[in-house]
Amino acid sequence: RNEPPMVFHWFPWIGSTVTYGMDPYKFFFANKKKHGDVFTFVLLGRKMTVCLDTKGNNFILNGKVKDLNAEEIYNPLTGPVFGRDVVYDCPNAKLMEQKKFVKFGLTSEALRSYVELITHEVQDFVKRHKAFKGQKGTFNVPNVMAELTIYTASRSLQGEEVRNMFDSRFAALFHDLDLGFSPLNFQLSWFPLPHNRKRDNAHNAMVQIYSEIVRKRRAGEVKRGNSQDMVWHLMECTYKDGTPVPDHEIAGIMIALLMAGQHSSASTISWVILRLATKPEIVEELLAEQKRVLGEDLPPFTNEDLTKLSLHAQVVKETLRLHSPIHSIMRKVKQPLVVEGTNYIIPTSHTLMSSPGVSARMDEHFPNPSVWDPHRWDALNFEDDDEKVDYGFGIISKGGKSPYLPFGAGRHRCVGEQFAYVQLQTILAEFIREFKIRNPGGSTDIVDTDYTSLFTKPLSPAVVEWERRGA
Ligand code: HEM
Repeated sequence: RNEPPMVFHWFPWIGSTVTYGMDPYKFFFANKKKHGDVFTFVLLGRKMTVCLDTKGNNFILNGKVKDLNAEEIYNPLTGPVFGRDVVYDCPNAKLMEQKKFVKFGLTSEALRSYVELITHEVQDFVKRHKAFKGQKGTFNVPNVMAELTIYTASRSLQGEEVRNMFDSRFAALFHDLDLGFSPLNFQLSWFPLPHNRKRDNAHNAMVQIYSEIVRKRRAGEVKRGNSQDMVWHLMECTYKDGTPVPDHEIAGIMIALLMAGQHSSASTISWVILRLATKPEIVEELLAEQKRVLGEDLPPFTNEDLTKLSLHAQVVKETLRLHSPIHSIMRKVKQPLVVEGTNYIIPTSHTLMSSPGVSARMDEHFPNPSVWDPHRWDALNFEDDDEKVDYGFGIISKGGKSPYLPFGAGRHRCVGEQFAYVQLQTILAEFIREFKIRNPGGSTDIVDTDYTSLFTKPLSPAVVEWERRGA
């Protein structure tokens, strides 16, 4: 058996770092054409073996824990941000339990309360934000949507105390902690660079804040009322061996949810708005859907109503097909692996790389793949006949044959999908009630993607025109 073909490069160590880093999809498709679905390239001195299309996705994402390992790759970067004993700073079995806590905390009761809180937050935001003064204007979508995303997530999932701190101290801490998410930190996270020092200070301050929230709640100084936030839920969770979740782990899990959710949701809602601005007729179709399903007078909606707004869901779904915020998923190879159906063997010195965004852009799976068309999902579904599995955090679809996996698959699959949909659909539904949007000059162009950060996002500035309805 042979190792997979190696992508040609002029310089050792640097390898294909620059071409991959500038546009990973262009790089993947060019090499897929040359070498097929399995090939190796050099990224900052590491040998990365890419496995593409549905078989490649399944091979990596549903791999066994004894064969593949995520924490060895991710923890150097995430460890100092999330903290001790959570996510990748603990054995996989413990992460599975932590994911179960989170998933089981997102009950329908919790989601129902979040819809109400997020709606209010969007209404307050468009009233007070300087970008929305007057009857019409323009706004820089990525910046404004990042702000709105963090307010809505903190008010709902993170709880009232965190939301109230966001207007002052917490926003700066979040910014500093986020410096730790620089891709450079896969290699340099321990290095005493100024941004890493700021990260560590911000982490310590945040742990203190969450611990204080927990202390006050346990002491009865803050009453629960009907609050459904994740902190209350984690305070009640216990591991299988009977230990409750210690305070520093509650803090770590909450920080992880904040970071994972913020970047992915902010990027996605930004692309939703930017895509809609290229097709304003879909915005009107969305409003018509709301009137048809909820009533002409557009009453406040509930989580159950959201599930009936199918075009709203399809807009998010189609946006995630072309703009999944995570373009590369990595795993360390723990023992030599044969790629099923090929002659290739992958040695333990390699890192595996999966990119479900590639199958999502292949015309074999999605005709005219580069066209953003929410209606392509009118009669398309990959989930119904999918095998179901349980990796320890509840039953999920295996996704073994699906070309559409923006939330990943297998034991590391996202547990925030439901929350993300609730958040994104609520923001979308509320936003288009307030505004019409379109590109300046009615252009149908879409801005390029910024691939330099860990989560991809639209290049800023990306400006859209808004006009208040009924103006
Ligand atoms: C894992 C995507 C929102 C929490 C993942 C993974 C993907 C993903 C692709 C798998 C990573 C891997 O296999 O290495 C997304 C997208 C989102 C989103 C596209 C929004 C549009 C969220 C939100 C939260 C969240 C809102 C928190 C509330 C997590 C967690 C994991 C995860 C805890 C598990 C990590 C692991 O097991 O290794 N997400 N995510 N995500 N996500 Fe999300």
